[in-house]
Amino acid sequence: MNIKDEYIRFFESKGHKHIPSAPVVPENDPSVLFNTAGMQPLIPYLMGEEHPYGKRLVDYQKCIRTTDLDEIGDKTHHTFFEMLGNWSLGDYFKKESITWSFEFLVDVLKIPVNRLAVTVFAGDENVPFDKEAADLWESLGISKGHIASTTSDNFWAAGETGPCGTDTEIFYFRSEEEVPEVFDVDDERWVEIWNNVFMQFNRTKEGKIEKLAKKNIDTGMGYERIVAVLEGKTDNYTSSLWSDVINLIEEISGKTYAGNEESMRIIADHIRTAVFISADDAMIKPSNKDQGYILRRLIRRAIRHAKKLGIDINSDWDEKIALLIIDKYKNYYEELSKNKDIVLENIRNEKNKFNKTLEKGLREFEKKSNSDIDATTAFHLYDTYGFPIELTLELAKERGLKVDLDGFKEKFKAHQELSRSASSGKFKGGLAGNSEIETKYHTLTHLLNAALKQILGPDIHQMGSNITSERMRFDYNTDRKLTDEEKKQVEDIVNNWIKEDLPVYKEEMSKEDAIKSGAECRFIEKYPDIVTVYFIGKDKVISKELCGGPHVKSTGVLGNFKIVKDEACSSGVRRIKAITEGETNEKK
Ligand code: SER
Repeated sequence: MNIKDEYIRFFESKGHKHIPSAPVVPENDPSVLFNTAGMQPLIPYLMGEEHPYGKRLVDYQKCIRTTDLDEIGDKTHHTFFEMLGNWSLGDYFKKESITWSFEFLVDVLKIPVNRLAVTVFAGDENVPFDKEAADLWESLGISKGHIASTTSDNFWAAGETGPCGTDTEIFYFRSEEEVPEVFDVDDERWVEIWNNVFMQFNRTKEGKIEKLAKKNIDTGMGYERIVAVLEGKTDNYTSSLWSDVINLIEEISGKTYAGNEESMRIIADHIRTAVFISADDAMIKPSNKDQGYILRRLIRRAIRHAKKLGIDINSDWDEKIALLIIDKYKNYYEELSKNKDIVLENIRNEKNKFNKTLEKGLREFEKKSNSDIDATTAFHLYDTYGFPIELTLELAKERGLKVDLDGFKEKFKAHQELSRSASSGKFKGGLAGNSEIETKYHTLTHLLNAALKQILGPDIHQMGSNITSERMRFDYNTDRKLTDEEKKQVEDIVNNWIKEDLPVYKEEMSKEDAIKSGAECRFIEKYPDIVTVYFIGKDKVISKELCGGPHVKSTGVLGNFKIVKDEACSSGVRRIKAITEGETNEKK
């Protein structure tokens, strides 16, 4: 039985529409690098916006969590995972949610009722004990002894602000031992498998809890966990979800999983995540910042562990594993087949780059490893041998050494400032790299957005964007193609602004002031309370947008702007691809 398919089928039978997983890189949300939960792409709808698929939704969402990336290697953590979820947007509430969860677990997955236990909200000064949920569970057959209550673990919020609510968590008894009559939340034999949030509040930035216009249901169940738990595995990587990948790594390395668990888990996990990041339509490439840096770290760490296992890192081991992962998931995520070549190329290129310096870097590390690693060595490993600092930390930890991390950060910052000076034209030649051109495209994105509004009207908004060193991509809401004349007008407007060499500057302000100022922004609720607004213009401000940057200091350096494509993207959305070319003022 495939739990993922069964889950979708079950909730479809309860009137839910299966929505596709959102990309791992959230569109229009610069506040996070990746989607970390099934509900995240749905926040606007949980806040009240109408969802095009209706009020009952079900999906499996690709999620990436990298906060404890360096912890991967244990039995249960993954950087990438899939979250099964079902939602009611102002439709059904507690009764149906609890009943259907019970039905799915007991009738579909055939879990014996006495192996299940639940927690409900215990009550505090704002919200009372959730007697309704407790009674519902009991009426379905969960014994009183298996219903516990907490306050801290039974209130779920997406973050400091935003939609939130009390929840009920469902646990499974994963042990051969006899099931205890009384459920103890701290007894590790009970594993949490599902979380149903009764989302009826919004937490404001003052910390006030106010009622949402509509009551929602938001549930989440980690796929890799449920599979492992139901197969009785305490090590997720030994479940049927991973066995083929682990077998392949055993075959490639000629070693057994037993005794080499950590490195094999890291390789399996990191290559899978690298495949999903690379295949995402955001077209992330390994780099030194943001998602690109995560991708780089994942690939480089996987390589280091492959080497540790004695795998010939110049062979096609990485491609074999990536291909197996693509094959396993391609029926669920069509981008994997579509972007297969890009995925393989990303991993191969990064591998080739790192393989050149890894050996020497490791030797350098060994040379210095008779004492703690000082800042100069850590920075040298980073700068010359491409060792992400996290890799140096990991190597040091394995030998019980410390790394002067603060010293490294100082050196890193000084280096960055030097690069920034270089890209702003103070030091010519040498240090400026890809990021310089990407920064230009960031600013051009704002100019294009402003120019489109001038030509097509103020209701035009950015629906997505993506930048590489070769081009920028900009999605906007319209249902028709730009005429040739309009295209030319947009280009002319942008190029005039470039010629005028307008200053680009930023201001920090409260979210409210930003909205009042008319700054361009989508999904305002996802931003922190204090936001950065970028302005472009001298006497007249021609663009103001909420944005994390970075941007060029003035538009004169942006070259000649050219639209190369204006194509349909999805219903009501078109996609412009544009480039900048030619001489800039900076070089003159
Ligand atoms: N938002 C809840 C969670 O992430 C349920 O989906 O656990």
